[in-house]
Amino acid sequence: MSAKVVNGNGGPTASSAEDDTTDDISKKRKKLVASASKSSKKKKLKENAPELVPVIDYDLLDASDDGDEDLPSSLEAGDQAFEWMISPTVPSKFYSDYWEKKPLYIKRTDQTYFKSLFSTKALEKIIREQRLLYGKNIDITSFDKDKRETHNPSGRVYPAVLWDFFNNGCSIRMLNPQTFHSAVWRLCATLQDHFHSMVGANVYLTPPGTQGFAPHWDDVEAFMLQLEGKKHWKIYGPRDPSEVLPRYSSENLSQSEMTSEPVIEVDLEPGDMIYMPRGTIHQGNCLEGEHSLHITISAYQLNSWTDLLEKLLPAALAEASAEDVEFRQGIPRDCLLTMGVAREEEKDTQARKAIKEKVNRLVSKLVDHLPLDGAVDQLGKRLMGDILPPALEVEEKARTVYGDGEKWHGIKKTVVNRVEIDPDTHLRLVRASAVRLVQEEDTVKMYYSTENTREFREVPIEDQQLEVGEELAPAVEHLITSYPSWVKVEDLPIPELEDRMKVAGDMWEKGVLITREPLEAHYDDP
Ligand SMILES: [Fe+2]
Repeated sequence: MSAKVVNGNGGPTASSAEDDTTDDISKKRKKLVASASKSSKKKKLKENAPELVPVIDYDLLDASDDGDEDLPSSLEAGDQAFEWMISPTVPSKFYSDYWEKKPLYIKRTDQTYFKSLFSTKALEKIIREQRLLYGKNIDITSFDKDKRETHNPSGRVYPAVLWDFFNNGCSIRMLNPQTFHSAVWRLCATLQDHFHSMVGANVYLTPPGTQGFAPHWDDVEAFMLQLEGKKHWKIYGPRDPSEVLPRYSSENLSQSEMTSEPVIEVDLEPGDMIYMPRGTIHQGNCLEGEHSLHITISAYQLNSWTDLLEKLLPAALAEASAEDVEFRQGIPRDCLLTMGVAREEEKDTQARKAIKEKVNRLVSKLVDHLPLDGAVDQLGKRLMGDILPPALEVEEKARTVYGDGEKWHGIKKTVVNRVEIDPDTHLRLVRASAVRLVQEEDTVKMYYSTENTREFREVPIEDQQLEVGEELAPAVEHLITSYPSWVKVEDLPIPELEDRMKVAGDMWEKGVLITREPLEAHYDDP
């Protein structure tokens, strides 16, 4: 693939002996690009035409930049997945009446609705075949006589031990099924482009006639999807205004603390769903003779106005302090004598009043220094480190670095399928949530999420950035703002074609770009 111009962690112009070697290679590889003509793609298409469509109008093909005919954009796919999850409630109704307001119970007649998502059999297969650890991946819990206990042994989970706990009345919580199970990964990853927040999952398996957890609330927007068996749920609203939309999960609550009547009390059956805003107290128990398996899909952890302001206000203060000398003037000598918790109750003296007025004035001046886009970008950067990598379809893999490009040929004993991006290659971001452009430390960096693993924050965010600088940033910006439309490499809005090619090549190599068609090999393989 094409040569590097954008560096992983250093600046774009760092040079060394090693870089010189890279440059030589770049020149050779550039030659490959230069020798490629637009006609080669068309020629190939013509050869394949009967398999694709009866007639190809190349001008029309070039003009149709408004999306992939085969697959929806990740934004549409996210919306569709969400619609599926809350159906038959429509999203507009959901967001106006329920989101962050009150729980929603959906009863379905189709017990197979969520069947393909996960099963106890799938859990069994995962713990048999993969190395899951107690505490990290699996929790063994019980709740009896108002007492919640965790029984995690140390080390790896083995099926025989886990099922022994289960037979003795313990619940099993799988903390991150998306790490081990493709369908859960796919749903969570797809929903990320609906919520624009990290989407996670927990699976709960509860033996007949037991309860696994004490009543509690969580710090996430939660969608409980019943997969197998039945569970009796009592759902309570927050007990007072301070518990509405809490930032953090509660401790275990005792039965005596549940003073009001449940707002929902229901037996959840396969295909049914309950949505709970964060802060909703919930308590579920299994009925005699039937186990229960449900998955909770969660979003919007620490994604409130407070979290945005936590990024914004320190940045505003830094800017105000840099630009306005009043913020840099010393506090009065008597400030510490005048203010403080010991003097809180004192009647406001002239000195106290003066300090309060001054602080109020400075705080109100901060409003003129709010770097809002930059603060939202900081949340975007956090998102890049937190979210799941895209769950690519097979045909998508064939058009990205995951499946396209050079391959080792076992019989020929050589590398085949040497591809290059052409000036007229059409490409777009692989997902809307694949990258975030961030102005940082006097330069512009592109953070990306595609090299995350399916384990939360396994890859440090600082390992997933390209420094693009002010000069190349408009090309990345164009790809971000054009999504989901296809963009021709030669149309990227930076002056030099060579730079356009290199930005595209570097982004392709990080897995953040998908091409409209698989790239072509420009040479006959030997
Ligand atoms: Fe919970």
